[in-house]
Amino acid sequence: MFLPTCPLFPPLNKITCVEDLRRVARRRVPRMFYDYADSGSWTESTYRANEADLQQLKFRQRVAVDISHRSSRSQMLGQDVALPVALAPTGLTGMQHADGEILAAQAAERFGVPFTLSTMSICSIEDVAAHTTQPFWFQLYVMRDRDFIERLIDRARAVHCSALMVTLDLQVMGQRHKDIKNGLSTPPSPTLGNLLNLATKPRWCLEMLRTQRRTFGNIVGHARGVSNMSSLAAWTAEQFDPTLNWSDLAWIKERFGGKIIVKGILDADDARLAVEHGADALIVSNHGGRQLDGAPSSISALPAIVEAVGDQIEVWMDGGIRSGQDILRAIALGARGTLIGRAFLYGLGAYGGPGVTRCLELMAKELDITLGFCGRTDIRDVDSSILTNAPGANPSPRTYA
Ligand code: GLV
Repeated sequence: MFLPTCPLFPPLNKITCVEDLRRVARRRVPRMFYDYADSGSWTESTYRANEADLQQLKFRQRVAVDISHRSSRSQMLGQDVALPVALAPTGLTGMQHADGEILAAQAAERFGVPFTLSTMSICSIEDVAAHTTQPFWFQLYVMRDRDFIERLIDRARAVHCSALMVTLDLQVMGQRHKDIKNGLSTPPSPTLGNLLNLATKPRWCLEMLRTQRRTFGNIVGHARGVSNMSSLAAWTAEQFDPTLNWSDLAWIKERFGGKIIVKGILDADDARLAVEHGADALIVSNHGGRQLDGAPSSISALPAIVEAVGDQIEVWMDGGIRSGQDILRAIALGARGTLIGRAFLYGLGAYGGPGVTRCLELMAKELDITLGFCGRTDIRDVDSSILTNAPGANPSPRTYA
């Protein structure tokens, strides 16, 4: 029987790129939460540069090479990964789609890539652990309430999170115009504009009514003085700790007792300090262009950092990755792994868990085919020679266990 499909909400098998997922997500997710994910700070110049600078890197096509057996498998922090990509920690994931963190973690697990749960998640650490079978990574924001932070680290350890990702670039918050204009809060504040917008998202509303997970699961009920969302907004603004410094990494590492990833490095001197202070991996990141607008794109900052510390620590990169080709570009410039944030959020907002899987499938396919076009068969052998215009720095050779 012929069943017509709505062009605004195509079936998943008609989704052929991450941009398709973004368009559907924009229709399905309330504006306040869609904008939260899909925006940068101030002029958004860094947010745009992340994608644009990746696009500048051109592939060197090679022909008549036997590429019949290809592999995109790799390792991140000693963990086997189906492709060198992990799901980045993203705040309010459970507001893109009901139970979002659980759905994304399950999709990542099935696909064979790591999932990172944000401190600012809707589903709690315990809740995600109860709905997955593999250890995931936990992202930590260091807040002034050290008591709460110590208990948060203990909770991550108790559910066997296999690494702690410490975000270093949010001691103060970059101003995001859209969030201010939308009056971002959870649940959405009942302005006329927000109510009218919600009325156009019936599917999102129904799913949200069905779940109990509608607040910051790691925080409400665990931090002193936070029992509901209105007090949380004030609490968050007060709590991000501007005194955070490198010496804090020692007690965090000791308390967690496992691997530490530091996130938010853009400078080679900071990369050396991360090594000195015992990080096991670092992420070259400008927080998806959400913090210091005017900072360099992640891909442009990557080569100097690989040059400085790439033989001592795993260097990863996030920011602007929207395709398997972008993953390959980052690997070519010396990243040992990459993280995606918005790309998987679009999939989640558009189609729930299957949308996250679709995002990963698309990226894996793009990566595999591009590897072949470049005359390569194993991603672990990729270096800057697959590009026609790699920047000056010549990344040190990487060794894989
Ligand atoms: C939090 O991680 C944010 O960027 O909003």
